[in-house]
Amino acid sequence: QWGLNTEWLGHQLVYEPTVTSTQIVGHDMARDGAPHGSVVVAGEQTAGRGRMKRYWDSKEGYGLWFSSIFRPKNLAPKKATQFTLVAAVAIAEYLEGLGLDVKIKWPNDIFIKGLKLSGILTEMQAEHDSVEYIIVGIGLNVNHDIRDLHESVQHKATSLRIELGEEQNINDVFQGLLLHLERKYDTFISEGFKHIKSEWESKAYRMNEWLDVRTNTTWKAKLIGIHEDGAMVVKDKDDKQHVLYSAEILW
Ligand code: BTN
Repeated sequence: QWGLNTEWLGHQLVYEPTVTSTQIVGHDMARDGAPHGSVVVAGEQTAGRGRMKRYWDSKEGYGLWFSSIFRPKNLAPKKATQFTLVAAVAIAEYLEGLGLDVKIKWPNDIFIKGLKLSGILTEMQAEHDSVEYIIVGIGLNVNHDIRDLHESVQHKATSLRIELGEEQNINDVFQGLLLHLERKYDTFISEGFKHIKSEWESKAYRMNEWLDVRTNTTWKAKLIGIHEDGAMVVKDKDDKQHVLYSAEILW
């Protein structure tokens, strides 16, 4: 019924009309042994979650909300961010194919003309020093009109419908996105992160500009690239370099 044209991603597919969060279902499935490449997609989420414990608005018919389970072999937990960046590049390429100009804000925001269209939440289960599974949750706004966007994000978010001027078929978006995700994942495994890193950097939002970055405090930093394990590399006012694994760019 989904007409997926992937080779492995989503072959094990669960559709839930209503869930709290596909991330929660994904964790349950993974704990129960769901194989690499399993996907759960929801009609709506009642408690969709974003990074930094934020709420993710996920109403029925307005967008695509899904989580994919990956079981990488011998991946150090520290490198899990790489998965977020692989997904970000895959989403960006899919959207470029629709004619959109896409920027990625580290680590996980997909921007069109300075507005957020999509977000990625990566969570993992690690044992000893290796990752058991990773759940990559993707939310993409599809059919919101400006007034459908949550009040708190009306000047910060956008949707495919707003950008492309007409309603989109969510299933088509799902198919296209899964295919790009699978291809990028395969490239990442066969060629390593280097390839992804340069693609990511070429699409980075506000590269080489001064940004407000929040770690424990908020300070000025200039984004100069990403580290080979996915962290963000910045310079401070004294030209000192920092590698940030957990931080937020304010906008
Ligand atoms: C962010 O931008 O902070 C990340 C947003 C991630 C939202 C997706 S929607 C599918 C999956 N399930 C969730 O509860 N969150 C992710």
